[in-house]
Amino acid sequence: MKITYIESSRIFKIDTLQNSYCIGITDEERFLTHVYYGSSVSDDDLTYLLRTDENPFAPSKNARDRGSFLDCCPMEYPGNGVGDYRESAVSVEDSNGNSAVQFYYTGHRIMEGKKKLEGLPATFGEEDKSATLEIDLEDPVLQLQVTLSYCIFEDSDAIMRSARLRNASDAPLYLTKVMSLSLDMDQKDFSLLTLHGSWARERQMDYRTIGYGRQSVSSVRGESSHQEHPFIGLVSESATQESGSVYGIHFVYSGNFLAQVEKNQFDSLRVSMGIHPENFRYRLMPGETFQTPEAVMVYSENGLGGMSRIFHDLYRNHLIRSPYKDRKRPILINNWEATYFDFDTDKLIAIAKQAKEDGIEMLVMDDGWFGHRNDDNTSLGDWKVNEEKLRGGLGHLVDEVNRIGLKFGIWFEPEMISPDSDLYRAHPEWAIAVPGRIPCRMRNQYVLDLSRQDVRDYVYESVAVILRSTNIAYVKWDMNRQLSDLGSAFLDRENQGELCHRYMLGVYELQERLVTEFPQLLLENCSGGGARFDPGMLYYSPQIWCSDDTDAIERLSIQEGTALLFPLSTMGAHVSDCPNHTVGRSTPFETRGNVALAGTFGYELDITRIPEADRAQIPGQVALYHKYNDLVRSGDYYRIASYRENHYYDCYGVISKDKTEALITCVQVMGRPNVHSRRICVPGLDPKKRYRIEGTDQILHGDTLMHAGLQMKAMWGDFQSELIHLIAE
Ligand code: GLA
Repeated sequence: MKITYIESSRIFKIDTLQNSYCIGITDEERFLTHVYYGSSVSDDDLTYLLRTDENPFAPSKNARDRGSFLDCCPMEYPGNGVGDYRESAVSVEDSNGNSAVQFYYTGHRIMEGKKKLEGLPATFGEEDKSATLEIDLEDPVLQLQVTLSYCIFEDSDAIMRSARLRNASDAPLYLTKVMSLSLDMDQKDFSLLTLHGSWARERQMDYRTIGYGRQSVSSVRGESSHQEHPFIGLVSESATQESGSVYGIHFVYSGNFLAQVEKNQFDSLRVSMGIHPENFRYRLMPGETFQTPEAVMVYSENGLGGMSRIFHDLYRNHLIRSPYKDRKRPILINNWEATYFDFDTDKLIAIAKQAKEDGIEMLVMDDGWFGHRNDDNTSLGDWKVNEEKLRGGLGHLVDEVNRIGLKFGIWFEPEMISPDSDLYRAHPEWAIAVPGRIPCRMRNQYVLDLSRQDVRDYVYESVAVILRSTNIAYVKWDMNRQLSDLGSAFLDRENQGELCHRYMLGVYELQERLVTEFPQLLLENCSGGGARFDPGMLYYSPQIWCSDDTDAIERLSIQEGTALLFPLSTMGAHVSDCPNHTVGRSTPFETRGNVALAGTFGYELDITRIPEADRAQIPGQVALYHKYNDLVRSGDYYRIASYRENHYYDCYGVISKDKTEALITCVQVMGRPNVHSRRICVPGLDPKKRYRIEGTDQILHGDTLMHAGLQMKAMWGDFQSELIHLIAE
């Protein structure tokens, strides 16, 4: 880990474990330009890569033709409306209504450590094991200053970027676009990799050819969303799971985003990532600053798998803060798919008793315990226990569940308000809405205006009062609709364009308060399944509900896409009943368990009513969880085969960091006749070690398993699965 500034060549060089990132300053103009990003390079003088010599239109040589230079020069943080016609990083409305902006280098600092980003989630590291480069730029006309931050950690190949803007003028400036990152590079043979989806089908991997012009994924839904994910990957044509060049850029933010790649006339690429400019207009008063969220850049020459493992380690070591991050989570049983809204104390206690017998460790009471909520039409905002359902109150239920020997967890949807609620009747102005328009309902509810401190305080207290009242070990924090009808009764004309970002800052503030007051709480974020499964939320909760689709087969591709970026320890995964409530598919109970073992593991079914043959398997699954979870949580993830690609089986492995143990999960989605070989090469082992295949007499060297492969057993029927445990001798 090293950050240097080479005075003679005016090059900044950021060296991580295996990569280099270089930035230059042009001679006379002092433009900040991108020089190189990829595998480590040894030379310091990279001025020849600045391209000012090869370009006759450099302003210092040909002031007349500045535009020709600006439109092709790789810029580190491009301005707007001044001759570079590619996507700008910033757009500003000044007091005259002009939007031009152009930045010039003014100074820099190289420091130990990494600063916090005020009010925002961000990666963190120990002072002497992290380093930061801050580069100052200024637009002298607007007197708008930008500080670009580049942070690295001793144990990681990721580079974290963000920008802080300061209005040094004496008039307000309006930011109408502020990207966290802009990255110019040459188009080699990259395809664009993104994650798309919908409710119950989140984070499906999607590849496309990079054509000329702009291609993007984005969200203007007020959350990172089911539909598209704040990630962009550039994958070299020759890249495989374990070799070849891959760049991955991920946004540590949970609201609106734009992630875009633009291929221009010179076949160069500009990647942009930041808060989506749509509906964004942020007033910056004189002396005020605006901090962008953080974007994480990862480069790997070890293929997609190499990229995934860098993200996984980064998030496990430098983003998740929860005391649970390195701990086994209690195996929970959630009553949502068991009862939906139709439950009472007796029902929950019956579930808890049976769960305890089978080795489950926590009961989670989902939606429907408050107000008069017997369906999704009402009561969000009225966080008062429904004593008709919970006779004797919440404390009584929790005591009983604890007496049985289970921890207790509870569901909230704190950001929402039902039109049919006492809260809405008292405070209709607390809902996000545009005056004169009836706001769009989704799941029969509105969104609370969390840009307001009074609303945030109310929301916080409603949750905290319940948590203070009894012994609650876990909270599922849900968010079941997207933002629309953007209007705040609190913000004035000048600030309305800040609503979505302020909303996100409000969510972060609430969760920060929660984990500060209840440091031992296990928090799981959720949004209609996995619509807010993003790195921002991981800063507050060590796990996120992956999807409302709990079907073991659908989960294969959802979990594959999720694990592309997120460690398995973060993926909320449960065994549910069949036929599956979302897709109607029936799969063996064993396979449902094996697939859920790849995540946090739990149950989401009526354990008092499922077939006895299924229930009888639970203690065995619980034992497998206890046996394998340390490995699953902390090991290296390898994608071995993808059902998405081969259409009949899925296979992934987790290998311990010391390579003494591996767990391979194989799911046969479709039985196929005449498939002679099910040989699976297991990457990531130690070639010299000898591994015993548990349950057999076979012992093989790592190199044999890696190159010649492991023979899977033939499986009879669709949806069968197998776990293979390798233990070094
Ligand atoms: C969302 C969640 C579910 C469940 C319901 C309750 O859809 O993803 O797990 O909590 O809300 O309304």
